[in-house]
Amino acid sequence: MQIAIDLLTTNETYFFREPRHFEFLEKQLNALPARQQPVRIWSAAGSTGEEAYSIAMLLEDRFPGRPWEIVASDISSRVLDRARAGHYPMERARHVPRGYLQRFCLKGTGKQQDTLLVDRALRSKVTFLQINLNDRLPAIGTFDFVFLRNVLIYFNPETKRSVVARALSVLRPGGWLFIGHSETLNGISDAVKAIAPAIYQKP
Ligand SMILES: C[S@@+](CC[C@H](N)C(=O)[O-])C[C@H]1O[C@@H](n2cnc3c(N)ncnc32)[C@H](O)[C@@H]1O
Repeated sequence: MQIAIDLLTTNETYFFREPRHFEFLEKQLNALPARQQPVRIWSAAGSTGEEAYSIAMLLEDRFPGRPWEIVASDISSRVLDRARAGHYPMERARHVPRGYLQRFCLKGTGKQQDTLLVDRALRSKVTFLQINLNDRLPAIGTFDFVFLRNVLIYFNPETKRSVVARALSVLRPGGWLFIGHSETLNGISDAVKAIAPAIYQKP
């Protein structure tokens, strides 16, 4: 079953995909009142980890010293292994700001030429879990931001409704849900308010 899942899933992703989401995230983090609990972000269906590491780089750079937790999950164990390794072809890094590359990534040399490795310190701060969005969620706590991007397109309307409801069940009131720019929640959920393209807020 796992091999079938790995073969059937489409794992296309890259660093800082859909940059307006990262701009919005930064703006909301700036506006978030200071508090002791960490900011919690879930990269649901995060594929090979670029989404989670992009968020982690932004948090480390723009909000130094602010506690945060990122949970990144996917149904596919194969992509999760690659996410945990944090080792990517250099061409995937074309949208990573230069300063972030220098600060958070190691450049491969010799046999590893044309690759980058996300710095161990950053890697160790992201928790990777295997989660099937079509199943009951494990105990992962609640989140300020949920990235549920570019996965709904693979589901039929009924499955979309239950996956979105499940994601919203772990989004705290006032928190934000991001979906892919080619996706919509029209007819899928009216439990959130559309705030910007592919960005919703839970009342
Ligand atoms: C196209 S990638 C999106 C990656 C990232 N969110 C992005 O926007 O760049 C879709 C991911 O959804 C995962 N996926 C598909 N069905 C899933 C399910 N039922 N539960 C969890 N993940 C799933 C796939 O394994 C794949 O890695």
